[in-house]
Amino acid sequence: MTTIKSLQDTTTLHNGVKMPWFGLGVFKVEDGQEVIDSVKWAIEAGYKSIDTAAIYKNEEGVGQAIKEAGVPREELFITTKVWNKDQGYESTLAAFEESMNKLGLEYLDLYLVHWPVEGKYKETWRALEKLYKDGKVKAIGVSNFQVHHLEDILADCEIKPMVNQVEYHPRLAQKELLLFCKDNSIQLEAWSPLMQGELLEEPSLVELAEKHGKSVAQIILRWDVQNGVVTIPKSVKQHRIVENADIFDFELSLEDMAKIDALNEDRRIGPDPDNFDF
Ligand SMILES: NC(=O)c1ccc[n+]([C@@H]2O[C@H](COP(=O)([O-])OP(=O)(O)OC[C@H]3O[C@@H](n4cnc5c(N)ncnc54)[C@H](OP(=O)(O)O)[C@@H]3O)[C@@H](O)[C@H]2O)c1
Repeated sequence: MTTIKSLQDTTTLHNGVKMPWFGLGVFKVEDGQEVIDSVKWAIEAGYKSIDTAAIYKNEEGVGQAIKEAGVPREELFITTKVWNKDQGYESTLAAFEESMNKLGLEYLDLYLVHWPVEGKYKETWRALEKLYKDGKVKAIGVSNFQVHHLEDILADCEIKPMVNQVEYHPRLAQKELLLFCKDNSIQLEAWSPLMQGELLEEPSLVELAEKHGKSVAQIILRWDVQNGVVTIPKSVKQHRIVENADIFDFELSLEDMAKIDALNEDRRIGPDPDNFDF
């Protein structure tokens, strides 16, 4: 089990870059004041990592919040993603510049291929390799890649993906993918760790929450990091942003972990990476 002691603890990616285990997601957070407030509250609470994407249409607000927060750039870890319609070599390079202009940053920490668009993602990956070699981004990775997509990329890439960000929560424990990523030094990162709120009344999680004097959200997020999975819950509420990150003062036992593992049903809340049409 992975031992993580504070909100600032990091995992070391295979190229040596340090990525925080914990961050804030901003999917469905409105550009402007809503995203500015969320990001600033998170940074105030000690978060170092923010996960956005071109398609979330809030990169400008994320950039504004980073400026207003007044934290040295190098203390933060900023992720964005190239959207599906922009995949391909030249179009990805252009999309990257557009994201960077919106974010107002000189370099990015992590750039991800958002979805494995058939027939496109390898060209997109070549563009990410170029951005990495040019020093514009500290780490590159993929998102929503299944084992077969990773095998396909690994077969002829120059630089191996450092991260794979996928849907991951107690109903979708992704055991095979997690093992494959560990074996290939690819850091797994969880999206929708709280299953967008659907798991918060699950009786066995409520029981564990009572046992530890924690909330169900905290139990789930602790399960993520103890499994060696980076996690980026989203909230636009200051008290939840603080609550979600307060998971470093307790530990789930092996038995607790097994109870959570038992909730797996291989059930998704989001699209299937082998069958999506966007
Ligand atoms: N790569 C991809 O394809 C992909 C896809 C989806 C998401 N993501 C990333 O992953 C991040 C997280 O996933 P997500 O936003 O889909 O869902 P999530 O983090 O699983 O859940 C967010 C929902 O849970 C609520 N919530 C948060 N903390 C809570 C708490 N302590 N108690 C009760 N409710 C709580 C939020 O409401 P309030 O905001 O009202 O608090 C929101 O409705 C995204 O923001 C995005 O950055 C990536």
